Amino acid sequence: MKTIGIINGPNLDRLGKREPEIYGTQSLADLETLLEDEADKCEANVICFQSNKEGEIIDKISEWANMEIDGVVINPAAYSHTSIGIRDAISGAGMPFIEVHISNIHNREPFRQFSYTSGACKAVICGMGLEGYLVALRYLLGK
Ligand code: DQA
Repeated sequence: MKTIGIINGPNLDRLGKREPEIYGTQSLADLETLLEDEADKCEANVICFQSNKEGEIIDKISEWANMEIDGVVINPAAYSHTSIGIRDAISGAGMPFIEVHISNIHNREPFRQFSYTSGACKAVICGMGLEGYLVALRYLLGK
């Protein structure tokens, strides 16, 4: 059975409350339930992790790399635009990552239009809302 990790970065713990006109009204718990249900249908496991701290995200990537899980769906949130550390962790992990953004970062402020982390990922999905995570999960599972 395959295992896919899900990483949500800073401020995504407030999904549903935070700028709902941009990020929607569903909570992080709702998102994680959607992903767990989809994984069940695909006879796979998901492990979900959220942190507001860059170092904790790097540590989790390292932990999952050592466990040799099958891939990771990551929304690095604001760290996409700042973190070479997370990019290096992704590059060194030896497993496929798909970067997801709920909003379309390309039609927002200029500072959001560059992502350090996306170049280390196999693919990037943005602007599809929470559906983007499900598409990424199915892709990593080959479904
Ligand atoms: C985001 C986009 C980022 O620019 C922002 O900092 C976020 C969320 C998204 O999912 O659309 O926190 O990654």
